[in-house]
Amino acid sequence: MDITSKLPNVGTTIFTTMSKMAIDYKAINLGQGFPDFNPSDKLINLVTRAMREGYNQYPYMPGVTPLREVIKQKVKKLYNADYDVEKEITVTSGATEAIMAAVLACMGHGDEAIVIEPSYDAYEPAIRLAGGKPVFVRMMPPDDQHNTFWVNWNHVAALVTSKTKLIILNFPNNPTGAIMSVEDLDAIEAIVLNTKILLLSDEVYEHIVFKPHKHLSVASRPNLIDRSFIISSFGKTTHTTGWKVGYCCAPEKLTKELRKVHQFLVFTVPSPFQYALAEYTQDATTYLELPNFYQQKRDLLQEGLNQTNFKTLSCPSTFFLLADYRDISNKSDDDFAIWLTQKQGVTVIPVTAFYNKSQPLPNLGLIRFCFAKQDDTLTQAIERLKSL
Ligand SMILES: Cc1ncc(COP(=O)(O)O)c(C=O)c1O
Repeated sequence: MDITSKLPNVGTTIFTTMSKMAIDYKAINLGQGFPDFNPSDKLINLVTRAMREGYNQYPYMPGVTPLREVIKQKVKKLYNADYDVEKEITVTSGATEAIMAAVLACMGHGDEAIVIEPSYDAYEPAIRLAGGKPVFVRMMPPDDQHNTFWVNWNHVAALVTSKTKLIILNFPNNPTGAIMSVEDLDAIEAIVLNTKILLLSDEVYEHIVFKPHKHLSVASRPNLIDRSFIISSFGKTTHTTGWKVGYCCAPEKLTKELRKVHQFLVFTVPSPFQYALAEYTQDATTYLELPNFYQQKRDLLQEGLNQTNFKTLSCPSTFFLLADYRDISNKSDDDFAIWLTQKQGVTVIPVTAFYNKSQPLPNLGLIRFCFAKQDDTLTQAIERLKSL
């Protein structure tokens, strides 16, 4: 019996395809964005302790209070935003569920959401499931004045219509590493001022921003906070992507609707992880020292790749590094990524995977390396690439 697909264009994601190829060809997987190392023993012990202490049943639907309390303190300290623990902070099953719940909560049939490309792959399906329409706008590639991808906000403003319900932001950006500047936030304020447009700000890499840069959260803008879902993920911050613990901070009116969806998507999030993360995150060094930890890995990969024929782009944030391969090959980025796995034993992600396929793809000649890997893994990958 057939059913009509709600997501006819969704197939196996490139991340799954490339990870499978990495296994088949015994390649070093610098594709999918997850660490190949464990979280700290302390955190693992806290989970075990929580289980032994009996935190094994359904926790409170919006998230356990100690974890929401810690999130509140962290957001207050870093961005000077005051969220109410009871009414405005929700623990979700990773950022992915927060994105789905936020979009389903606020969008309806015919509504439009502006999505900035290259973009993470969870936004478009959420918009489509809500009956809405994604309106794509492309970031500009690096040029003389910008050493990373950047948003021309005039292009975004030009796409705003009476149907625009939501603008989705993702800074620090996966895959480009681009971050928000004061001017970006000013431009966003100017676009949404006197409109009912909501913002979904996916800030899962908020704690992986390298010196001298600083993460500027949408939460730091009083003029934006009232209309924003701000989403983050403990998976990225504590090397626990498989635990799927994230959260959403949003004003009461938005949170109320988000929780109605959250309640029936997952109801709640495993309690031992929540209690463990609550205690662990009380120590601010667990997130404040993350940039140093990842900067060393970024430098290792970037310096290594700079000895090859790849040209690396500037990487101010995230654990992804983009590299231009056009001095090595004139294949499309898809073909090049496949070839690299098969012939050189290193798996990466083609950057056009982050663009919708309804328009002609840009010819960027870029691949994405993930450096959330052990130093040995990165060094071995560089060795394999040197012969290119
Ligand atoms: C930009 C972005 N948002 C959201 C997520 C998903 O986060 P989580 O694993 O917490 O669901 C990812 C994971 O790669 C991501 O890169």
